[in-house]
Amino acid sequence: KKSIAVFASGSGSNFQAIAEAIEQGELQATIRLVVTDQPDAYVIERAKTKGISVLAIRPKDFSSKQAYEAAILEVLEEKEVEWLVLAGYMRLIGETLLDAYRSRIVNIHPSLLPSFPGKDAIGQALDHGVKVTGVTVHYVDEGMDTGTIIMQKAVDVVDGDRERTEAAIHAVEHDVYKAALQKLWH
Ligand code: GAR
Repeated sequence: KKSIAVFASGSGSNFQAIAEAIEQGELQATIRLVVTDQPDAYVIERAKTKGISVLAIRPKDFSSKQAYEAAILEVLEEKEVEWLVLAGYMRLIGETLLDAYRSRIVNIHPSLLPSFPGKDAIGQALDHGVKVTGVTVHYVDEGMDTGTIIMQKAVDVVDGDRERTEAAIHAVEHDVYKAALQKLWH
């Protein structure tokens, strides 16, 4: 059974999907901590509802990225976290966390990488006019969405419609993240 921390900056629907997969016995893991850089993020409510500890920590309260990540690392080590699962954490992981967790940090991204890395991947794909986009789960390295790919799934763009395409991608994300983590851990 893996001890994990989920990192999120927003709504936390992927956090929720992972937590529910664990509850259903589909993933052999325990979420020891949710880390967020956004003290107003909805993921905090979701974590509290599930009785999971939250570390809400803002980079701007620290003198450097290194100091920010060192503060996170201290809590991760105290809780004996083994894997970092990024789920809508909108920040590059720096050398402090990479040195401690390299090859044990994964991310989900809403496109078929290497197409459309970075912010608003769904908007980028629609603006480009692609007819198929998708979801990628990958290891995290120092680059922006550049690490080794673990699993991908294609999703059709629905009539160039942002809302419907976004809904389709989110639904697929929740399945693909679970499947990718099963593949890594089971
Ligand atoms: C997800 O679509 C995730 O793939 C994306 O943020 C969303 C978070 O949703 N991540 C990135 O764009 C990372 N570059 P959630 O908060 O509901 O899980």
